[in-house]
Amino acid sequence: MSPVPFDIAAAIRTIPDHPSPGILFRDITTLLGDARAFRRTVDELVQPWAGAKIDKVAGIEARGFIVGGAVAHQLSAGFVPIRKKGKLPWKTVSTTYALEYGTDQIEMHIDAIAPGERVLLVDDLIATGGTAEAAVKLLREMGAVVEAACFIIDLPALGGADKLRALGVPIRTLVSFEGH
Ligand code: PRP
Ligand code: MG
Repeated sequence: MSPVPFDIAAAIRTIPDHPSPGILFRDITTLLGDARAFRRTVDELVQPWAGAKIDKVAGIEARGFIVGGAVAHQLSAGFVPIRKKGKLPWKTVSTTYALEYGTDQIEMHIDAIAPGERVLLVDDLIATGGTAEAAVKLLREMGAVVEAACFIIDLPALGGADKLRALGVPIRTLVSFEGH
């Protein structure tokens, strides 16, 4: 991981006790609304892949769409939405993953990726890594080569980054927050 660019960390708002007591919510809307910080964030995220011939950027609904769309544009790559269950109109592949309480499902279109395409996975934040792990599984099922995954925020105490590394996916994060 590269050194934390100060203006990126400072542009993220922390909201105590949201959505439940004891949780520190990391709110990126303040970063997105700050033109300089948003530009810097996207530049930092794409930097290792500038000449890497990434075919597709896959972004995870919902916040991963905002960051992933900008990253795809910057890399002149296509964009693939990985959506929550029931949102995509065409034939899908889906996978179920564990949440703190219960399970959730994400889906992508069966023709979103051609076998062998080089994919960069993007989301705003990695916590337990359950969502990103499920996304990697779906992408690989479709024959994608998952080159790497990048996130603005890492919550290392929750172990998500290690989970992705264990799957053989290199990971880039810009800001680490202790606690969660
Ligand atoms: C949040 C965050 C990541 C995910 C990380 O999304 O944006 O996508 O949780 O958690 P994990 O590493 O423990 O799986 P969430 O579904 O809460 O909301 P969103 O639709 O606003 O992105
Ligand atoms: Mg999300």
